[in-house]
Amino acid sequence: MQNNIEAILKKNPLIPVATIDNLSQVDSFYSHLTSHGIHCIEITLRTPVSWEAIRLFKERYGKDFAVGVGTIVSPEDIERCKELNVDFMVSPGLGDAMIDVFNSSGIPFLPGVSTPSEIIQGLNRGWTFFKFFPADLFGGIKALKTYGAIFSQAKFCPTGGINGENANDFLQLNNVLSVGGSWLLSD
Ligand code: 3PG
Repeated sequence: MQNNIEAILKKNPLIPVATIDNLSQVDSFYSHLTSHGIHCIEITLRTPVSWEAIRLFKERYGKDFAVGVGTIVSPEDIERCKELNVDFMVSPGLGDAMIDVFNSSGIPFLPGVSTPSEIIQGLNRGWTFFKFFPADLFGGIKALKTYGAIFSQAKFCPTGGINGENANDFLQLNNVLSVGGSWLLSD
């Protein structure tokens, strides 16, 4: 099945990464983001209420908002995303057990890489769009320029250490379609 993550990344150059502790944040994050012209969110699976927050976000705002799930680390996570009909899935890494489930999910997905070997593994699976994570710890802009010279077909969404000061520098790179981060929800 086709992975249509390119369309999501092109439409949303800024992808807010949200870790939701309290379900009241579903409404406040939606209001905050739409007031800044942002119409997507990646909700991490890092708290006990994460899945419920994703379900609520989809139910209340899913019509005009791309609701993605981050921190995908298992086939079970992907199955849950299918049940909730989320708009995209993001993993911090690559995992063999997730390959087939990602490919057959019908949901756009963004696997994570940080090193050349991981990019090669991803490309060998037929994937060309990656989360570059944690971008700040793995060379940031310098690494992405080097990867651009070596892996011309690979495109990235860097996250980890992106902020209001450096986001545009990342976005100007030819192999970056969008950037993600928690800073978009912290001001
Ligand atoms: C992620 O899950 O993508 C990162 O934790 C976001 O990193 P940041 O908090 O440095 O933006």
